[in-house]
Amino acid sequence: MNAESRSRLNRTPEWAALGKHREQLGQTGLRELFASTPARGTDYTLRVGDLHLDYSKHLVTDETLALLRELAAATGVSELRDAMFRGEKINTTEDRAVLHTALRAPRDAVVEVDGENVVPAVHAVLDKMAAFADRIRSGEWTGHTGRPIKNVVNIGIGGSDLGPAMAYEALKSFTDRGLTVRFVSNVDGADLHEAVRDLDAAETLFIVASKTFTTIETITNATSARDWLLTELRAGQEAVARHFVALSTNSEKVADFGIDTANMFEFWDWVGGRYSYDSAIGLSLMIAIGPARFREMLDGFHLVDEHFRTAPPESNAPLLLGLLGIWYGSFFDAQSHAVLPYSHYLSKFTAYLQQLDMESNGKSVDRDGKPVDWQTGPVVWGTPGTNGQHAYYQLIHQGTKIIPADFIGFARPVADLAPGLVAQHDLLMANFFAQTQALAFGKSPEEVRAEGVPEELVPHKTFRGNHPTTTILAEELTPSVLGQLIALYEHKVFVQGAVWNIDSFDQWGVELGKVLAKKIEPVLTGDEAGDGLDSSTAALVATYRTLRGR
Ligand code: F6P
Repeated sequence: MNAESRSRLNRTPEWAALGKHREQLGQTGLRELFASTPARGTDYTLRVGDLHLDYSKHLVTDETLALLRELAAATGVSELRDAMFRGEKINTTEDRAVLHTALRAPRDAVVEVDGENVVPAVHAVLDKMAAFADRIRSGEWTGHTGRPIKNVVNIGIGGSDLGPAMAYEALKSFTDRGLTVRFVSNVDGADLHEAVRDLDAAETLFIVASKTFTTIETITNATSARDWLLTELRAGQEAVARHFVALSTNSEKVADFGIDTANMFEFWDWVGGRYSYDSAIGLSLMIAIGPARFREMLDGFHLVDEHFRTAPPESNAPLLLGLLGIWYGSFFDAQSHAVLPYSHYLSKFTAYLQQLDMESNGKSVDRDGKPVDWQTGPVVWGTPGTNGQHAYYQLIHQGTKIIPADFIGFARPVADLAPGLVAQHDLLMANFFAQTQALAFGKSPEEVRAEGVPEELVPHKTFRGNHPTTTILAEELTPSVLGQLIALYEHKVFVQGAVWNIDSFDQWGVELGKVLAKKIEPVLTGDEAGDGLDSSTAALVATYRTLRGR
């Protein structure tokens, strides 16, 4: 392939300058960087809303940061950002605007798509959601038999599941504890079975969340849920309207399913699935935490939207985080990025970010379809500390890989904990600070020897350090802070996609597997012979059929 048929980022002068700078930086470590700039720990910090962000423990100098910003300028990050906020169709492969930022815009804002201000429609849906959430929470909305709703089951997958499921866990201490809220996503029947087995159908509301309303997992689960409900209630179709609502862009398919479109909460094709939990997709969350808390969350998102839109490059947090990721991916060959929240409530946070980041930036051709020659999106992974410390942190500290990591922690526990449990918070956070310190500065062989460690054990007890981390600290995990955090990551992902010149808003890579699954299912059931399957898949299918007794 000749050079012109490939994307050109790594042939720009800004890229070359970064490469040269990386060579010059060589093995310069964090101990040296801190020694040469005593105020680094306070200088290399940013404040965005309630988030205190420390990036001092990164393998960067002022020059690195300046060169990275030059790369951003040369690749038109701010121009693309402005185009996104203006409602231009920057999702070119799907010819769509990308306007999740309009979902959290204040009521009087004006955001136009095809010449139409979409903000009134956004707020009309939010108002409709709020009225419905209030009716559920107050017990005014009753099921088919006249009983109030006590259980809410969201059925959706990907962006129609991960956001509300993550946020429900994150904000559990703000939820109405009298309600049981569950999330069903997997087409494995066990998921729905476990979600409803102890529920009373008469008190259960199903929220079917699907942007397209064609996703096979969701429609299959929703159909099974409807069967379960009607069997349990010994009722006919007329019961569906009181127990099923839909969140979708597709009113026709919602009506086909038998859900009254009066009970449909709408959103729009300019909301990507993985950017949708602050749209109607958040209804289950709004029922759980109430409309006022939901609004606080949206305001948190909006605060960071405004920061991203207006802050200068030197203090623009999503820009900085995006560029740091590019620095490690392309100039240190980092393959993955760990997100390590020190909050039990953020147990699903990293799983949520996996879709946000990996579905957005898991691309290998640029916007013009030309192959790229550089690393794009990293593997995103992680679980809450301190559990990870007793599992995989060993590899981060002493393995052969470089794994940039984000540490997210809070000064206060948000829940109404018993005094003894409140006291545990300092221990949690002592671990939080200790880990980034150990990762950054390690322990030299000399320090190990000075402890009297026998020479043969010195290499084993040495920590080489220089593992880069970002620390994000906030007072407590409120709805607003959660919104701020998610918007920070959304825009970080945006920045990276802009520099890499990829379309961060499509996801064609999920299609092939869906198509093949549709072809294989009738082979498993014996309705089709499976001609044309490759020999591996054919043999596996045959074994499966034997094990199933077919
Ligand atoms: O398969 C990927 C995907 O399209 C995601 O992008 C999306 O969030 C998910 O499926 C669910 O789609 P829908 O909301 O249309 O059911």
